[in-house]
Amino acid sequence: MEVKIIELPKILDPRGNLSFLESGNHIPFEIRRTYWIYDVPGGEIRGGHAFKEQNEFIIVLSGSLDIIVFDGKKEKRFSLNRSYYGLYIPSGLWRHMENFATNTLALVVSSTSFNENDYIRDKDEFLKLRLDEKDRI
Ligand code: TYD
Repeated sequence: MEVKIIELPKILDPRGNLSFLESGNHIPFEIRRTYWIYDVPGGEIRGGHAFKEQNEFIIVLSGSLDIIVFDGKKEKRFSLNRSYYGLYIPSGLWRHMENFATNTLALVVSSTSFNENDYIRDKDEFLKLRLDEKDRI
């Protein structure tokens, strides 16, 4: 499955809106871990790496940021600024986040438990691994 924006259910209510997601239903994997990114100083960049196994879904619960996804040849920028959709990123893609607005809160749901061995942090290594693969984005 390719990288894509997934819209989540949105229950509109005069008391305030509500959105939700279910493991394996609204997103195409079972959730093993959730983490969040917050208090990011202006101008910072996070998440410059790829994962061998991890699939993830990133929702910007508050504020805004850009996610740049790179398949080894092409890159795509996704600007996220609503809490009722997120970006699904399958394994094997290089991604980073930038352009965080003040007080942005980003929730990441992941298909794997934390495992440093799942990271590809070296861009040259990533590019080597991507050589025989077709375009993904
Ligand atoms: P990292 O994923 O490298 O952050 P970024 O994607 O923004 O570069 O994580 C930063 C540090 O936090 C790293 O030392 C690993 C640790 N960490 C955990 O221990 N558990 C987790 O679930 C995550 C996401 C990170």
